[in-house]
Amino acid sequence: MRFGGLRRYSLKWWIALPFSLGHIYRRLSPKDPTIQGMTFWWHGELPRRPAVEVFDAAAGSDLRLLNPGRRDPSTSTTLFEVACILLGLRQVEAARVLEIGTFDGNTTLNLAANVPEDGFVVTVDLPLEGDSDLALQAEGRERNVTDRTRVGEQFQGRPEASRIRQVFGDSATLDWGEFGGPFDVIFIDGCHSYDYVVSDTERALGVLRPGGLLLWHDYAEMESVSRAVDSFRGKLDGLCALEGTRLAAGFKKGA
Ligand SMILES: C[S@@+](CC[C@H](N)C(=O)[O-])C[C@H]1O[C@@H](n2cnc3c(N)ncnc32)[C@H](O)[C@@H]1O
Repeated sequence: MRFGGLRRYSLKWWIALPFSLGHIYRRLSPKDPTIQGMTFWWHGELPRRPAVEVFDAAAGSDLRLLNPGRRDPSTSTTLFEVACILLGLRQVEAARVLEIGTFDGNTTLNLAANVPEDGFVVTVDLPLEGDSDLALQAEGRERNVTDRTRVGEQFQGRPEASRIRQVFGDSATLDWGEFGGPFDVIFIDGCHSYDYVVSDTERALGVLRPGGLLLWHDYAEMESVSRAVDSFRGKLDGLCALEGTRLAAGFKKGA
């Protein structure tokens, strides 16, 4: 960004920044508020890397994207984020995938469309009935409990549903050993409190194969998620945030 020809991040540029009324006006009235929302993240300490670099072995792969126009990026992932997740599946040649947090099932459907015929996806969400009491601490927006009538709606009746197994319960109290692992990829996107993300990550590491890929959503956007993921620095190989997304990714040690 240049103000009157000033070099970006030069001393004069910083001095001019708060005085540029045109710039402030443009910030407050974006042409594309979605893009603005996607650029205002500041949590988390992980290095940022391009997905095609992290998933270099998969960069030339083709992906199957189903229902691409039926995504809700405020509750789910963006189209670019789901493409990055699918590149991750290709990178580790995933056949067994676990997702924590189903929501309407668009990501689940795409996971199932990108595993081999004999592969499968297990997706976990809170029970469809009852008051969804949570075992661990979670406040306000971190709770993230979605409309119960929509859970998994996007894969119902689709051929890919034969490769999807739904599990209902609180991720903090379920026995993850019964999910059918070890898994090649685990995508953590359930309750967004610090306690839940730490608990889900510890349990995930117990059922992920060595060299398997762990992904988290809402990194950098949510302080609680970012702090929890950052606490696993040094415990996974290549832990980083994926550029242009709210995804963090790392590989289980010991491959
Ligand atoms: C952000 S949405 C998941 C989005 C989905 N992964 C996608 O990409 O479209 C979070 C989901 O996690 C579920 N959830 C919240 N707390 C949970 C918990 N403690 N255990 C299991 N699921 C939980 C919510 O009901 C909600 O459907």
